[in-house]
Amino acid sequence: MAVSFEQAGVPAGVVVTGVDFTQIDDETFASLHEAFLHHHVLCIRGSEITQQQHLDFAARWGKVHQHPYVPHIEGYPGMMMIFQVHPITETWHADTTHALAPPKITTLVAREIPALGGDTGFANQNLAYESLSAALRELLDGLYAVHYGTDLAYEQGVDAKALRSAHPVVIEHDETGERALYVNADYTRHFAGWTESESKPLLDFLFAQATRLEFMYRHRWQPGDFIMWDNRSVQHRVVADHGSATRQLNRVTLHGDPMRGPAGSSYPYEG
Ligand code: SIN
Repeated sequence: MAVSFEQAGVPAGVVVTGVDFTQIDDETFASLHEAFLHHHVLCIRGSEITQQQHLDFAARWGKVHQHPYVPHIEGYPGMMMIFQVHPITETWHADTTHALAPPKITTLVAREIPALGGDTGFANQNLAYESLSAALRELLDGLYAVHYGTDLAYEQGVDAKALRSAHPVVIEHDETGERALYVNADYTRHFAGWTESESKPLLDFLFAQATRLEFMYRHRWQPGDFIMWDNRSVQHRVVADHGSATRQLNRVTLHGDPMRGPAGSSYPYEG
């Protein structure tokens, strides 16, 4: 298969063309895997992909996650439809970090997108960490932060224990070993052992650091784009500037493991 890779942004992003989803051999898959780990956000463009092929391709990267309360598309367990912008998706985040083992990878296929607008932004958390001073990195390396699920999840009756986890503030990627900042404005409320008001000034600084423009790749969708991102190294958000135009994507996420970092491993937070 003659596959081409074109870097799409400096902090993240690579666009791949020439992929035939009906016949991705091991060699092609290995080159996609390497590009994904290096660029954090991988887009496959110009290739037809059915819903079943989306599920099958996602399953080559890990175990498909079944959402605890958002229904899946009938006949496609693990595949959700995204069609409304929501405060959660409009705020910078990695996916469902309140979970003890948050999804490592998220994949989307653009089924109907606005002619203009509705981009998705991605911010590189390796760069966010690396560009801090050595003294602050040393402090953060020893800290945990506590992540909480949304009110909606509580209302849907998800077990409260599944909606609160402590993760290292700095994580090490389980495949590359690279360190990343791992706090986000959707789910992180305080550092473990610190009150919310004690945590707020430093968390606010870190949320701003995490999303600096120079760490960002902004993906302008084309119809049919398949995109996957690494929740262990980027945060993302939708830019909801497309008015009432329809924006419809299919989404499949893949199970991850509890996070590990210099401070230790994620744990269920009882406090
Ligand atoms: C998400 O936050 O998972 C959705 C991002 C998007 O709609 O672009």
